[in-house]
Amino acid sequence: MFTEEHYMIDVDRFITEFDKGLRTVFGVHPSARASPGSELPDADLGAAERRHAARLMRVNHCGEVCAQALYQGQALASDGLCDVLDQAAREEADHLAWCERRIQELGGQLSMLNPLWYSGSLALGYLAGKLGDSWNLGFLAETEHQVEHHLQGHLERLDANDVRTRAIVEQMKRDEAGHAGTARSLGARDLPAPAKGAMRLAAGVMTSTSYWI
Ligand SMILES: [Fe+2]
Ligand SMILES: [Fe+2]
Repeated sequence: MFTEEHYMIDVDRFITEFDKGLRTVFGVHPSARASPGSELPDADLGAAERRHAARLMRVNHCGEVCAQALYQGQALASDGLCDVLDQAAREEADHLAWCERRIQELGGQLSMLNPLWYSGSLALGYLAGKLGDSWNLGFLAETEHQVEHHLQGHLERLDANDVRTRAIVEQMKRDEAGHAGTARSLGARDLPAPAKGAMRLAAGVMTSTSYWI
């Protein structure tokens, strides 16, 4: 039976989540942990290297927008995992803030397609959440594993002297590995190979597009 109280709570939650979404896509974000490398002197990079670093960080920022949406979608669909995912979601919020700030320092811009990445990932997270906890955790573990691998690729493409950007990417990579480990320790199922491949394909579309727009 759908009571008035039930209805009120759902509306309340909807507004909270909607607000979270708007702030993820359009807001400026504080971080709980200081940005890694902020104590280091900024490297004297050439214009092309700065632009390249800003674009790579825009890709990572998009990834973090997606992470926010995935976690939000999963939490909406599966109340059971809320607390467990909370710590990881908070770390993702730091990543979002760090990327945002570094892009600004490098003189770059955020992706114009963030609302699109956000809504797609929210739907995907919700779907994963509805598949039950072990598949949901499996999806999370695989996402984090792929992100970790992707960040390693960025470390290879970033200028060796760009210590500030590198410090952020290195810390994010450590955090993502931790998130994958948490998901596995909680009973994540190993996803079938075609699902992993589809995820890699979707991530590839996002990363190659957001490097440019
Ligand atoms: Fe992250
Ligand atoms: Fe993560």
